[in-house]
Amino acid sequence: MTLSTGLITLALATASLATPVSRASAGYVKASGQGFTLDGETYTVFGSNSYWVGLTELSTTDMDTTFANIASTGGTTVRTWGFNEVTAPSGDYYQLWNGSTATINYGPTGLENFDNVVASAKAHDIHLIVTLTNNWADYGGMDVYVNQIIGQGQPHDYFYTNPEVIAAYKNYVNAFVSRYVNEPTIFGWELANEPRCTGTTPATSGTCTTETITTWIETMSAYIKTIDSNHLVGLGDEGWFNDPNSTDYSYSGSQGIDFNANLAIETIDFGTFHLYPFSWGETASPITWGAEWIENHRISQATYNKPVLMEEFGVLSAQNQTATYLNWYTTVLDSGLSGVLIWQAGSNLTNGPSPNDGYAIYPDTPTYYMEQAFSSLIKARNAVTGL
Ligand SMILES: *[C@@H]1O[C@H](CO)[C@@H](O)[C@H](O)[C@H]1NC(C)=O
Ligand SMILES: *[C@@H]1O[C@H](CO)[C@@H](O)[C@H](O)[C@H]1NC(C)=O
Ligand SMILES: *[C@@H]1O[C@H](CO)[C@@H](O)[C@H](O)[C@H]1NC(C)=O
Ligand SMILES: *[C@@H]1O[C@H](CO)[C@@H](O)[C@H](O)[C@H]1NC(C)=O
Repeated sequence: MTLSTGLITLALATASLATPVSRASAGYVKASGQGFTLDGETYTVFGSNSYWVGLTELSTTDMDTTFANIASTGGTTVRTWGFNEVTAPSGDYYQLWNGSTATINYGPTGLENFDNVVASAKAHDIHLIVTLTNNWADYGGMDVYVNQIIGQGQPHDYFYTNPEVIAAYKNYVNAFVSRYVNEPTIFGWELANEPRCTGTTPATSGTCTTETITTWIETMSAYIKTIDSNHLVGLGDEGWFNDPNSTDYSYSGSQGIDFNANLAIETIDFGTFHLYPFSWGETASPITWGAEWIENHRISQATYNKPVLMEEFGVLSAQNQTATYLNWYTTVLDSGLSGVLIWQAGSNLTNGPSPNDGYAIYPDTPTYYMEQAFSSLIKARNAVTGL
């Protein structure tokens, strides 16, 4: 029996006994070597994604249900969307575009709504990773900036280089980040969800490389530091490597991301990566491929002495989900990777189940119990290793 198998047995036996410990904290989560601290103690990043908690017109009661369900898995950290770019008011949105002019929505369907998200997270002792735009067209994202400022259907990657677009994005980031500079519930900011040279819009300039996006990351992460020195800054990327000798799409730099170059940036505090072998064509042996992906990012974590998070992962239930997640959580635990967030949280809300793209994990399901077990194990690991 390996150490982790023994710990899993122990945690499964004690999971139902776990009671949430309320630990009010005045400080901010900080990066320390390959891990995190809060008020001088080890802080374990374990939890889930809920992009929808601030975007689907939830009542504060439903926000509370969402965070309570995640806290009951032992979750400490939730990643969510801090953006929705619209060209006509609709639902919860944070920025409204008219031509090339964007107006921040400070009202009850905008930042006041996000205030409620933050208050609810805080009440459940959850810290928030807030992502500030999207590579993809869901909830607007980069293409709205490009379409509104440069023109409809212009290259996606102009988002990273056009000075007016960069100024508009900085303006949005400034409004959002400034509002929460003194809010310890914010774990950190992420520049974008899954930035790549290509987006939902097919057009590209043909000149976008890893250096294009690395330069943008340097600019934007340094900019956030000038507004907010309290919070961590990460990227929000899928973690692609840039090995020109590799023929593997995920390792060859093909998507415009150089994980190691980006992790080396001084104003990037932690690394991020995602894991979706079926979406990425890595289907020959997805469990093993994923375990290697985790281990390779753990090596970067050690090389650059910065924490790295597997902040999204998923296979569908028909894709051997239980065995896969058991393997990957165990690999995170045993490898020493700093932290992990599953894609994605599910809750039973007032008007029915929260959004489900096939990956949602609802309470009282086998994977939900698996989360409970691994949160205990990873916290126990960190208590011993100081990770
Ligand atoms: C959008 O901007 C144009 C030009 O400045 C203005 O005439 C129009 O009233 C604006 N539309 C809205 C809905 O504010
Ligand atoms: C790529 O291959 C060349 C030739 O074999 C080698 O010199 C180089 O170090 C390799 N680069 C990387 C990043 O492995
Ligand atoms: C699921 O994964 C496990 C562990 O690798 C393997 O033993 C099993 O055969 C897989 N099942 C299916 C249906 O692929
Ligand atoms: C939540 O809903 C799911 C189905 O959507 C169901 O399986 C589960 O039992 C429900 N859990 C609770 C606590 O109501």
